[in-house]
Amino acid sequence: MRTLRSPAEAQAACLAAARRGALGFVPTMGALHAGHAALVRRARAENDTVAVSIFVNPLQFNEAADFARYPRTEAADARLLAEAGCDLLLLLDRDAMYPPGFATRIEQPALSGVLEGAARPGHFAGVLTVVAKLFALAQPARAYFGRKDFQQTVLVRRLVADLNLPLEVVVCDTVRDADGLALSSRNVFLSPAQRALGLSLVRALAAAEAAFEAGERDGDALRALLRRGLEALPDAPDYAEVADPGDLSPRAVARPGDVAVLAARVGPVRLIDNHVLGAKMGPFAPRP
Ligand code: PAJ
Repeated sequence: MRTLRSPAEAQAACLAAARRGALGFVPTMGALHAGHAALVRRARAENDTVAVSIFVNPLQFNEAADFARYPRTEAADARLLAEAGCDLLLLLDRDAMYPPGFATRIEQPALSGVLEGAARPGHFAGVLTVVAKLFALAQPARAYFGRKDFQQTVLVRRLVADLNLPLEVVVCDTVRDADGLALSSRNVFLSPAQRALGLSLVRALAAAEAAFEAGERDGDALRALLRRGLEALPDAPDYAEVADPGDLSPRAVARPGDVAVLAARVGPVRLIDNHVLGAKMGPFAPRP
């Protein structure tokens, strides 16, 4: 695995690799876990060369404190990536990515105004701007994203379609702990008690899925089930929605393929999770 530390070096290495065959690209913010590794392995299986970027993107953080404490685990990340089959590690830093004078923003006002975007103003403009920049640096044939960040996948697909970017977006299933908690870099901040409370999210999704399988199609009834599943949490959820997977608008009548999406604060962490209705879920077991 080669490590590239500047945008210019990263771009030169990726373009050279793309001349030899298909380049698969996985953008990340580091603090890598098995969810990231699954994206890298999928990229490995489908491409000749695999590039992974690690860049904690200040533009997409709403709170300076969240950016400052975001876990940075460079040595462990490099080991995980080498094992998962990464060829090119793009380790980028803030000054090189956003030099003085950087002035461009990519925005999707409508899709960014709901769900995560409503709870985190400016977040998705930061995500879209860095993703567009990373795509221009790596120029991959395929880019890999996790369904865990459902809204992000919708916006990135829109970016690629709207700007005619010549790459395929591949969305991979959410990787969970054995008990169902979706893996997240921020889970390290949860105490054991908070982690147990965090399981409310996947349980709420499982309850909605069970009702959907039993024939429930009323959007409000499904939303009520999601909210009931989150009642044990100290704070009301930021949202608990059943949405159209294309434009994220709320559904009155749910159909297979619609997405149940949740966000709630548990102690120091905002947890998000989602489930595509009609898709298989679990079974989950208590953690050993
Ligand atoms: P980050 O949170 O590091 O996530 C990088 C990729 O890993 C994203 O596509 C995310 O959806 C995926 N991922 C995270 N947890 C996962 C899980 N449990 N299962 C499967 N995939 C998972 O998302 C970002 O970084 C940033 O917004 C980024 C796209 C890099 C732009 O800065």
